[in-house]
Amino acid sequence: AIDIEKLRALTGAITLDPGYKNSGSCKSAITFLDGEEGILRYRGYAIEELANNAHFLEVSYLIIFGELPTEKQLEKFENDIRKHTLVNEEMKGIIDGFPKHAHPMGVLSSLTCALTAFNPTVVNVENENQMYEAICKIMGKFLVIATWTYRKTIGYPLNYYDNTKPYVENFLRLMFELPTGPYKVNQTVLNAIDKLFILHADHEQNCSTSTVRMVGSSHAGLFASISSGVSALWGPLHGGANQAVLEMLEEIQKDGGDADKFIEKAKDRNDPFRLMGFGHRVYKNFDPRARIIKKAADDVLAELGVDDPILNIAKQLEEKALKDEYFVSRNLYPNVDFYSGIIYRALGIPTEMFTVMFAIGRLPGWVAQWKEMRENKEPIGRPRQIYIGEPLRKFKTMNER
Ligand code: ACO
Repeated sequence: AIDIEKLRALTGAITLDPGYKNSGSCKSAITFLDGEEGILRYRGYAIEELANNAHFLEVSYLIIFGELPTEKQLEKFENDIRKHTLVNEEMKGIIDGFPKHAHPMGVLSSLTCALTAFNPTVVNVENENQMYEAICKIMGKFLVIATWTYRKTIGYPLNYYDNTKPYVENFLRLMFELPTGPYKVNQTVLNAIDKLFILHADHEQNCSTSTVRMVGSSHAGLFASISSGVSALWGPLHGGANQAVLEMLEEIQKDGGDADKFIEKAKDRNDPFRLMGFGHRVYKNFDPRARIIKKAADDVLAELGVDDPILNIAKQLEEKALKDEYFVSRNLYPNVDFYSGIIYRALGIPTEMFTVMFAIGRLPGWVAQWKEMRENKEPIGRPRQIYIGEPLRKFKTMNER
């Protein structure tokens, strides 16, 4: 038997906190989150106020640079981003190499890292100007390549950023404009997407953000760090949950639409099935973002006149779970991904693009956290472990095994 105590003595005193449930990894001035009270603030501003009064680029500026921008500062930021919305044509060759049905998140992560090869100056950020240039570049190019991952799946020509149009409107054009004519922007859809991006913009040390900081702590460049963040976000326990929610709802519908049956399945401790879009590591009260999105979802569905049986199943799940002892006692409330999946569907965003939408929204948060980590001169991230493997063993020759 392994003598754990002896091994522990050899490795010294180590705090073991799997999943970092109670370990801080850094000091940060970006986002304040109180999971018990359901409070979320960016740079001291309540998420509710920002979502109702500001635009996504304005909030991005706030998160990245620490203050709400003046009109002039915002105009300069948007113009500087516009200077970097062109993506090297050779990147298209990389996209061509992917199979048509490759998941957009995998393509996005690869393309984000590939940007490093075409923008070598952003690899080593050594001063404020280089930092600013790297930020504007990723804010411009990421939006374009994110939408290209979708164009690839439908086999349509890739669109280019229109510098005469605002950032979020460009997202819609890049996604949906066809060579046959201009895309007509619906203001309700535009407002809802802008709000969703704001709600996703930062969330302190979540899995993907911690990944960005960890990768960046080795002084890997901004684009490489963001690419790792995209990969971390992809998982169904994190950003991938918004896609998983829709897939779950479709499964329930195919099965006959019995919400109770799936609630019982989620409660069965011998069944690995979980209600996707329910529960949160930090919010043990309601997720404040979910509250805002729920209202936005109700408004959008009413305004667009969407009548979708999938959405009715979602409503039933929500109502039933909120009254069920199992979910109530474990503080399992619908999270931001539960409603974002529903609203994206109503807005006509394809399911496999849901997590990419999250990534576009989260980009300023990743950027701000990476910038803060570098400016604070944080040491390389290098957790310890408690070794539980074999003690020293004598090597066995091939014949002895
Ligand atoms: N459905 C059913 N039971 C659940 C669910 C769920 N969605 N989530 C948690 N539970 C149960 C667990 O089985 C556990 O029960 P037990 O105490 O009887 O063993 C208890 O609630 C606590 O769950 P943990 O997994 O320990 O909670 P943790 O904080 O580690 O996980 C997580 C949080 C990953 C979000 C979890 O709730 C989950 O898997 N939810 C579904 C996926 C999801 O929606 N992810 C998106 C999160 S939000 C975001 O990333 C933006």
